[in-house]
Amino acid sequence: MRMYDIIMKKRNGGELTAEEIRFFIDGYTRGEIPDYQVSALMMAVYFQKMTESETLALTMAMADSGDRLDLTEIRGIKVDKHSTGGVGDKTSLALAPMVAACGIPVAKMSGRGLGHTGGTIDKLESFPGFTTALTTRQFIENVNHIGIAIMGQTADLAPADKKLYALRDVTATVDNMSLIASSIMSKKLAAGADAIVLDVKTGSGAFMKKESDARALAEEMVKIGKNAGRKTIAVISDMDQPLGYAVGNALEVKEAIETLKGNGPADFLELCLTLGSQMLIAGGKAGDSKQAKEMLEAVIADGNALEKMAEFVEAQGGSRETVYHPEQLPKARIVRPVPAPVSGYIDHIVCDEVGICSLILGGGRETKESEIDLSVGLVLCGKVGDYVRAGEALAMLYANDGGKAEAAEKRYLAACSITDTPPEKAPFIKAVIV
Ligand code: URA
Repeated sequence: MRMYDIIMKKRNGGELTAEEIRFFIDGYTRGEIPDYQVSALMMAVYFQKMTESETLALTMAMADSGDRLDLTEIRGIKVDKHSTGGVGDKTSLALAPMVAACGIPVAKMSGRGLGHTGGTIDKLESFPGFTTALTTRQFIENVNHIGIAIMGQTADLAPADKKLYALRDVTATVDNMSLIASSIMSKKLAAGADAIVLDVKTGSGAFMKKESDARALAEEMVKIGKNAGRKTIAVISDMDQPLGYAVGNALEVKEAIETLKGNGPADFLELCLTLGSQMLIAGGKAGDSKQAKEMLEAVIADGNALEKMAEFVEAQGGSRETVYHPEQLPKARIVRPVPAPVSGYIDHIVCDEVGICSLILGGGRETKESEIDLSVGLVLCGKVGDYVRAGEALAMLYANDGGKAEAAEKRYLAACSITDTPPEKAPFIKAVIV
């Protein structure tokens, strides 16, 4: 078998066999097939797409490309959650402590930023000293001891996805349904949870811009999960504007902390309660979503969720103090407003452009090797439907470089449209697929 022939077959619209898929995944994992050939194949997949059986074969080949985590030593039903990626998506930061405080063991593997979207691991590293480089033993012990641990994808867990993820990030080949489905599900299957709750985003800040594509992605992932014997549920949620107000690593951590204190933005809280309910039901802690929501609201109100976050941060090398004093998080030197050019209602915010603003400020990666600046980003002052007067701030920029702040400001202004009439509100949660 030759990689060249596989690339050409896909480029010409052919359907790859499971053997051909396994050949390129195994060869790439072993370092025998170079990045440039895999980049070419990814671009061919992007344009020609993959069939359902190719996607399943790709998922299984990636899940089998390394070890599988054995979580049997963790007591209780392990429920994992994964997002398809969005802008301002700090959900895991608040949700994990919330469900852990309700008694669901959270043994979660998270990723870094991808394209215009941020990643949980980068965000968590805003806590000085915090590490996600845990051994499997530490990971299991932390979950058994405090109920929660989050680690980065280890070199031996779905290593094919780890390499492909970083390659797709810098070759404009992220937003393909089969590549996203196989990337997420290979990791989730290898990571060993009993049940999986997926947050599938749709809108201008999501990889799946159209709701019909998001639904197809959700259905595909649910099918893969069920075929592999895992209870899998997908929630389709809006990503047509940033989630909450904060976009950027440390800024999002701060917003997640505020949410655990009971001061969270409405959309963000709604998402945490919806996903959290599905997790509590799948984990056998609640009978229905009404009961689950009450349990989740209670752990915010009594401070248990915030304290769970403090325990978790401390167990992974950070200071619990930072959770109670978020002013200790990394801070940008320049803070300046983006003034509204006219008065009116915010009609639309092109959401992936907001992610790119954060990237321009230094909050994301331009190449596989880029270092990110955890302190920078934006905090929106108004969201879709809000009224602003000319000269008032549409958003605050947090930067360490005046030139980058200027570029981000221009880009933010171009991403926002303001009109005389209030826009119609679309539902935030679009569907729950079981
Ligand atoms: N999240 C992943 O883990 N993989 C993707 O391809 C996209 C989002």
